[in-house]
Amino acid sequence: MFGTLLRDIQAARERDPAARSNLEILLCYSGVHAIMAHRIIHRLWQWKLRLLARWLSQTAKFFTNVAIHPGAEIGEGFFIDHGTGTVIGETSEIGDGVTLFQGVTLGGTGKESGKRHPTLEDNVTVGAHAQILGSITIGEGSVIGAAAVVVDDIPPYCTVVGSKAYVTRRDGERTYDFRHDHALRAEDPLIQQLLDRIKQLEEEISTLKAQCQAYRNPQAAHDRQSNAEEQ
Ligand SMILES: CC(C)(COP(=O)(O)OP(=O)(O)OC[C@H]1O[C@@H](n2cnc3c(N)ncnc32)[C@H](O)[C@@H]1OP(=O)(O)O)[C@@H](O)C(=O)NCCC(=O)NCCS
Repeated sequence: MFGTLLRDIQAARERDPAARSNLEILLCYSGVHAIMAHRIIHRLWQWKLRLLARWLSQTAKFFTNVAIHPGAEIGEGFFIDHGTGTVIGETSEIGDGVTLFQGVTLGGTGKESGKRHPTLEDNVTVGAHAQILGSITIGEGSVIGAAAVVVDDIPPYCTVVGSKAYVTRRDGERTYDFRHDHALRAEDPLIQQLLDRIKQLEEEISTLKAQCQAYRNPQAAHDRQSNAEEQ
């Protein structure tokens, strides 16, 4: 246990250029306080002292502003930079050498039971306010960009950025399911609207072209119109 705590302090020392000494980390880093408390509280959880563990984790949250469920499995050399607002759900599994920045959520989607929180393999880094939701796996060494929303597995050694927010339901009815990584389907209402708009613009362009030609060469335009009328 003591060795594990030392490795957590070392992780902060290595990964935060602002950290000047172990004593400074021990006194001033709420992310480190949170993981130190969790290491002890997790033991209580494993010893089936569940209520005591929950109560102590609430107390730790009060002081650190980091909410780690006592059941979360966290590997060695773990570092939460700044800490504020970080949430780690009960069935989260975190490998060794993982770094989280402030505001990260390792949460559930609200649709799953049992294992419902993410698994972060070794040496994953999660940027500030990223939300990783569901029983998904973030592969070893991957980096999640700040403010990303991740709901699918990420392979090892990838960097991901961006959030997915799109309407999936309106008035209780499932609506157009727009995903960047899915093939676009012609029957989708959005695609249909875009095709209609393209058609309308093409018609406007051909009218404008005809008007330009008529302006440049009125005689040719007159002849073309006469021919069209004769036919
Ligand atoms: C994602 C990140 C790791 C950079 O990775 P990278 O591979 O070096 O990416 P790049 O800087 O080359 O950027 C690649 C593209 O992603 C974009 N991008 C970078 N970070 C982004 C983010 N968090 N959200 C959305 N887009 C982002 C860049 O603008 C660039 O877009 P472009 O190709 O259209 O120009 C970094 O930007 C990040 O988010 N780190 C988290 C750090 C953090 O949380 N710090 C908190 C300190 S308190």
